[in-house]
Amino acid sequence: SLSNMGLEDQIIIDFGLVNQADYYSSIVFRGYIRSVGEPVLSGGRYDHLLKDFGYDVPAIGFAFNVDLLSLNILKKLDDTYSAERANTHLRIALTKGRLEEDAVDLFRAMGLVDGPLLKKGRKLLLTLPGGEIDIVFAKAADVITYVEHGACDLGIVGMDTIMESGGTFYEVLNLGFGKCKFVLAAPKGSEIKNGFKIKRIATKYPKVAGDYFEDQGMDVEIIKIEGSVELAPLLTLADAIVDIMETGSTLKANGLVVLQEIQDLSARLIVNEASMKFKKREIDGLIQGIEKELGVRYAAD
Ligand code: PRP
Repeated sequence: SLSNMGLEDQIIIDFGLVNQADYYSSIVFRGYIRSVGEPVLSGGRYDHLLKDFGYDVPAIGFAFNVDLLSLNILKKLDDTYSAERANTHLRIALTKGRLEEDAVDLFRAMGLVDGPLLKKGRKLLLTLPGGEIDIVFAKAADVITYVEHGACDLGIVGMDTIMESGGTFYEVLNLGFGKCKFVLAAPKGSEIKNGFKIKRIATKYPKVAGDYFEDQGMDVEIIKIEGSVELAPLLTLADAIVDIMETGSTLKANGLVVLQEIQDLSARLIVNEASMKFKKREIDGLIQGIEKELGVRYAAD
């Protein structure tokens, strides 16, 4: 019936859409407007929910996010906001540090970056030649935050951060670079799966470590460390660590050995939910360009 109302081109059927609330019994839907990166409306069908309140009827309902709608009104009042530019322009968040060079190399191979654009100094937001794509450089967890809230349309971020932070976005491509592993490591000769004492695990990734030990049925104490986690066992703060290993040289240099490989990791391309709908053509174009370039690389491997 929405198509009878002439709204057919405004509807996208998305089999990837699930709602965390378990009272939905059938279709769930979200509503988007162009200028806001998050759904402004959310709802669905719940056939059994009202029964719990003593009135057994099937129902369908939705709620508006008034804060987001008012944000949209404010944007429209802002003269500097150009809806047209926002509609075709793509903003991509890149993870600073280890993934940065590979990501810029990828864009260079695709012809989006010419010459030594990397000489960016301390500038965190750059417009690529052609003027259609902005890139911003951010910390991994912030890449997810920017993409989740629609401040950026796309992001390049490690699977490690996705597993730790979670979030609502589409993960569309495994980029193949930034390969490393989550590992459980401990000082050579130590036993962490035996003994009665609850083991202490130091990690930058408390959620990943927690999930791993829950899977193993092991009760451990997890201590969050911000960096150089390898230090924790050396200083006897922890019995073992859960961390990412790339070459293994940091573990080796600090007398630690891998007890178990937990998960292979690599960089991923993520996309904001609303952008995927409103900028589909531009994003599909970019994804195809990346896939083509990755195809060339795999073929050369
Ligand atoms: C990561 C990781 C290890 C190291 C592994 O840390 O936490 O310490 O890299 O690499 P390798 O296996 O090649 O030696 P990173 O250098 O990103 O810094 P941080 O520990 O200070 O966060």
